[in-house]
Formats: sequence, structure tokens, C-alpha cells
Amino acid sequence: MKNYIQIAIDGPAGAGKSTIAKMVAEKLGYTYIDTGAMYRAITYKAMNENINLSDGNAIGYLLEQTDIALIPSPSGQRVVMDGNDISQEIRSNDVTSNVSEVAAHANVRAEMVKRQLKMAASSGVVMDGRDIGTHVLVNAELKIFMSATVQERAKRRLLDNEARGIQSDIASLEEEIATRDKMDSEREASPLVQAQDAIFLDTTSMTIVEVRDEIIRLAEERLAS
Ligand code: CDP
Ligand code: CDP
Repeated sequence: MKNYIQIAIDGPAGAGKSTIAKMVAEKLGYTYIDTGAMYRAITYKAMNENINLSDGNAIGYLLEQTDIALIPSPSGQRVVMDGNDISQEIRSNDVTSNVSEVAAHANVRAEMVKRQLKMAASSGVVMDGRDIGTHVLVNAELKIFMSATVQERAKRRLLDNEARGIQSDIASLEEEIATRDKMDSEREASPLVQAQDAIFLDTTSMTIVEVRDEIIRLAEERLAS
């Protein structure tokens, strides 16, 4: 019997990672860490400060002077950067279309991984992102790689946007998701790839509850071993 385990969830945009990671963390009483929010936060700051996003050194320097805190709250995780709540701002289309360029810099990733490991130290954790099973929680007891067809993921994003009153169309969402998938999968520094010991879940035809229950079942198996 283990007291707690680490759960790593990776996969492309719209696969359902953050929705399910949050639910699993809640059910197990674990800390949830949305690593994508950290890359979004530094992208938002770099854009505001007119930094050239292809300049990894400049962004690395900016990151060194930036505090990013992920704070659990009843309405979901709040993202606080240098004392300001930027939870909404980091979800803008502008940040979404630029974040993969920023996340491709190896020095930026190294600093993020250092911070993520500190956040995950000595407690049960569910962490989601692109490189969690391969580079961050390499010894996680449970690694999940979830995906769904681009069409299904774009449809989910469309519904998300509708609920938030944001206008969008399915064709542009499909294109944005496919572009980001490609950049994230083809970059040199810790690309999006399934860890060898990860379990693959195709969520295309699964409900949120089905995915949640499957991960809880796997987590309980690991906890009991
Ligand atoms: O929620 P969504 O799937 O749209 O994206 P996200 O998880 O917020 O991540 C935004 C972007 O950050 C991704 O497209 C990646 O470029 C980058 N990212 C990364 O490189 N590594 C991570 N561990 C998490 C995110
Ligand atoms: O974090 P990631 O980008 O992988 O995806 P998400 O933001 O958790 O999920 C995108 C949307 O798909 C959310 O509105 C979820 O409620 C929805 N979803 C779904 O409809 N069915 C699933 N099996 C998983 C997620």
C-alpha cells in the first residue's frame, strides 16, 4: 500500500487533460498542477513587454524575475503572476496562438520543470501538460497519454468558447489545434510524445465521467500495489 502516488497526464490540446486531471485530483485529495498555465503566463508577460518571442535568452531572463503561482480555488485553479490574477487573460486567442513558440525554448522549459518539481515534492499530485511523463515526473506511478481526433477536440473547444461567450468557428479551431499539435510534437526540446510506460486513452467517444473513472481505477490499482 502506498500513501500517495504521482499521476502524469499528457496529450494534445482539447484531449480533456485539465478537466479530468482536476476531477481526479479532487477525488483523491491531491494537488493539481496545470503546467500549460505556466507557459501561458510567461507568454502573456513577454507579449505585454514586447519581447521578441523567438528570443529564448530574453524570455529566460524575464522568467527568472517572474513569480507564477497556481492557487486552487472553488471556481478552478487561479493563476497569479507577480501578485496579479491573470487566469482569464492567459486563455486569450493571442496567448494561445503564441504559447507554442515560447514553450519551444529549452532554457524556458528547464526553468519551468525545476519549478514544477518543487510544486510536486512530497505530496500526491496530478500534473498535466506535454512532457510530464517524459521529462518532469519521470518516475510517476501512473502515466496517461490521452488524445482524440482533431475534429472532436475542435468541437469541444467550440463548445467551451460558446459557453464563455467567445465567437469562433470550427474550421479555424481545427487549424489552430493542428498547428499547435505540430509545433509541440516537432520541437527539439522535450516534444509532445507518449512516454514508453504511459497508458494511451483515446477519449474521442468517451464521456468525461468515463475517462475520470478509468483513471481513478488505474490510480487505485497503483495505490494498492
Ligand atoms: O489547454 P490547452 O491544451 O489548450 O493547452 P495548455 O495545456 O494550456 O498548453 C498550452 C501550450 O503550452 C501547449 O500548446 C504547449 O506549447 C505548451 N506546453 C508545453 O510545452 N509543455 C507543457 N508541459 C504544457 C504546455
Ligand atoms: O486540457 P485539454 O486541452 O486537454 O482539454 P480540456 O480543456 O480539459 O477539455 C476541453 C473541453 O472538452 C472541455 O470543455 C471538456 O469539458 C470537454 N471534454 C469532453 O467533452 N469530453 C471528454 N471526454 C473530455 C473533455
